[in-house]
Amino acid sequence: MSAEPGGVTAVAHANIALVKYWGKRDSTLMLPATSSVSLTLDAFRTTTHVELLDAPAGRDEVVLDGEPLAGTALTKVLAFLHLVRSQEPRTATAQAARVTSTNEVPTGAGLASSASAFAALAGAAATAYGLDLGRRDLSRLARRGSGSASRSVYGGFVVWHAGDLTDPARGDLTSYAEPLPTAPELDVAMAVAVLDAGPKKIGSREAMAATVATSPYFPAWTEHTEADAAEAADAIAAGDLPRLGEIAEASAMRMHATMLAARPAVRYLAASSLAVLDAVADLRAAGVGAWATMDAGPNVKVLCEGADLDVVAAGLRGIVLPGGGAPHVLLARPGPGLRIEASAALPAGVLASGAAEEPA
Ligand code: PMV
Repeated sequence: MSAEPGGVTAVAHANIALVKYWGKRDSTLMLPATSSVSLTLDAFRTTTHVELLDAPAGRDEVVLDGEPLAGTALTKVLAFLHLVRSQEPRTATAQAARVTSTNEVPTGAGLASSASAFAALAGAAATAYGLDLGRRDLSRLARRGSGSASRSVYGGFVVWHAGDLTDPARGDLTSYAEPLPTAPELDVAMAVAVLDAGPKKIGSREAMAATVATSPYFPAWTEHTEADAAEAADAIAAGDLPRLGEIAEASAMRMHATMLAARPAVRYLAASSLAVLDAVADLRAAGVGAWATMDAGPNVKVLCEGADLDVVAAGLRGIVLPGGGAPHVLLARPGPGLRIEASAALPAGVLASGAAEEPA
C-alpha cells in the first residue's frame, strides 16, 4: 500500500482538572478509579502531524519540538500507534507513521502536556489511518494514551466518566469524556503560577500506582471524589463559581494529601507552592474570588472570574518566593476542543464522523 501524501494535523489544548483524576482501576485499559471534571484552556496546546510512510510498522518516527523522541515518552507513543493500528483490521495497514509534534506547554511541568499531546495524537493518528471515529470514541482512544487526554477532546468544562465499574470491557466502552452543560454567565479564567518548568521528578503514571498500592487514604479519596464530580457539575450548570472553586481547591488538597500518605510519600508540593497557596488565601480574604489547584508538579493554577484575572495575576506576581524572586504567571481562559485538519489527499468522508472542530 502506498503512503498517504500530506497526512493529518490535529490541535488539542491542555485541560486542568477541577475534580482530580488520581488512580486507575485498570492500568491496561486506563480506567480511572473515579470520574473527574476539568476545564480546557486556550493557552497551552499541542499541534501534531501524522503521515503514513512507505515503510512497515515498526519503523515509526516521532519528533517532538524538533528533536527525536526517546525513552519512556517514545515507548508510550509507539504503543499508542500500535493501538490505533489494531483498532480496525480493515484499515490497519502495516504502514509506519511519522509523528511530528509541537508542544506549547512546558513539557512535564505539571501543566498537563500529556493531555493535549495524546488528544492531538489520537485525532491525527486515527484520521491518518482512516478510522472513522466519532468524538466519544476519540475520547476513549485518547484515554488509552493518557487518562486526562480523554478530556482534551472537548472544549470548556468537561466530565470524564469513570464508566461501568462491574467489568473492564464494559468500563472501556463507558469511560469517556463529554462536555458539561454550563451556565452561559459563568465567565472563568485561570492564572498559572509557574514555579518550576523543568521535568517532574516522578511521572503521574508511576505516582498514581504507588498511591493506589500504599496510601491508606486512597479508599476515602475515591469515595469522596465521585460526589465531588457530581457537585462540580451542578455548580457549573448553575453558574456558581464560589461553589465550584471550593470543590476544586478541596479536590486538589485531598489528592495531594492522599499521595503524601503513600509509602514512600509522593510529594509534588514545594515550599514555593505553599507560598502561592498562602497568596491565594490572602486574595480571598481581600474579597477576590480565587481558588487554587495543583497537579503532578509544584505549579499552582488559580481559578477566578474572568473579570478578576488581572487582579489575581498581579497578586501572584507580587509573591516573594522562599528562594527569592516571584513566580512567572501565565494567563488562560477556556479553550476549544480537538481540531483535526486533513490534507486534500485523504479519502473523502474521513472527517465526516464528528472529528471536525466542535464549537468553542
Ligand atoms: O493523565 P495523566 O497521567 O497525565 O494524569 C493526570 C493527573 C492529574 O493531572 C494530576 C489530575 C488530572 O485529573 O488531570
